[in-house]
Amino acid sequence: MLKLPATMTAVGFEAPGAPDVLRPETLPVPVPGPGQVLVRVAFAGVNRPDVVQRQGFYPAPPGASPIPGLEIAGTVAALGEGVTSLVPGQQVCALVSGGGYAQYCLARADHCLPVPESLPLDQAAALPETLFTVWHNVFERGWACEGETLLVHGGTSGIGSMAIMLGKLFGLTVIVTCGGPDKCAAALRIGADHAIDYKASDFVEEVKAITGGKGVEIVLDMVAGDYVARNMKCLAMDGRHVTIAVQGGVKAQINMAQVMTRRLTLTGSTLRARSDSFKALLTAEILQTVWPLVAQGKLRPIMDQAFALEEAAAAHTRMEAGTHIGKIVLAVA
Ligand SMILES: NC(=O)c1ccc[n+]([C@@H]2O[C@H](COP(=O)([O-])OP(=O)(O)OC[C@H]3O[C@@H](n4cnc5c(N)ncnc54)[C@H](OP(=O)(O)O)[C@@H]3O)[C@@H](O)[C@H]2O)c1
Repeated sequence: MLKLPATMTAVGFEAPGAPDVLRPETLPVPVPGPGQVLVRVAFAGVNRPDVVQRQGFYPAPPGASPIPGLEIAGTVAALGEGVTSLVPGQQVCALVSGGGYAQYCLARADHCLPVPESLPLDQAAALPETLFTVWHNVFERGWACEGETLLVHGGTSGIGSMAIMLGKLFGLTVIVTCGGPDKCAAALRIGADHAIDYKASDFVEEVKAITGGKGVEIVLDMVAGDYVARNMKCLAMDGRHVTIAVQGGVKAQINMAQVMTRRLTLTGSTLRARSDSFKALLTAEILQTVWPLVAQGKLRPIMDQAFALEEAAAAHTRMEAGTHIGKIVLAVA
């Protein structure tokens, strides 16, 4: 076992607010329970849900750490009772339900993925949240199959960039929308087949033109609001609409006759609230289907910028400014 300190630095907030509510604090190093491991965090990924949590609109679920941070990479420092799949000193990345913005973080052993030698830890920390979210929503809820076309909004976001790369690795044609020509150019460099500047043109008309009027089989939507009706116009017969965020508003007015006559499916999910056993199954599936591509260097996150743990407020400010491309991470070690 590695020698553990009694306390650690973590970054949390007392009350919701602007980025500067995020402050370093000293907390006891957590003790792993049955099925858990303690990870000495090297890097923690920053995700939009952390920003929404800090703003007070996405509280930590019962039992989860109130410290933000949904994904980490680092070294296993201690094992909880019954853990046999990992050893102390092993490098892992993990999906966690909170607590990532800290020097030490608890993770369930069955939510950890081994970090291949070729994968730097900053990149490892930038993978779990978007990989798990996109895999589940595009391929499991959206039933994406090779040869189909996927429309993704926010093409240069953490989620959007992962959707482009996974889509291409699994045989999809990927159309994205982005706010501005620079982001469109970046999305094309990441691998999108088509990038639509939604500020300069109507994405519904553009999708119609790109698909020769057929439409796309799947929409991965992080906007909602009035986008839902417009997304439905982009869907082909038997199309699937998957909601993962409601940045444009929670209410949508849609034509239910279209759902019937064009046999559309509307679904969605949030990852953080899912059960431990669901996340363990998803981890096992990703280990089998996607992790070999990571080990071979065929899938790497698009990295935007790294900030020191103590500069978490600056990382949130950058994310809220919306000019980032890909993933922001916190360097902890
Ligand atoms: N359901 C889940 O399980 C789950 C899990 C993780 C993340 N999410 C959600 O997925 C979204 C992306 O997360 P992230 O961490 O990748 O965040 P991010 O990198 O900050 O990306 C947010 C993106 O949203 C786009 N956007 C915002 N408002 C828009 C609007 N009105 N119209 C079109 N695009 C808009 C922006 O694209 P432009 O700059 O191009 O406009 C931006 O790229 C967030 O809303 C997050 O809460 C959901």
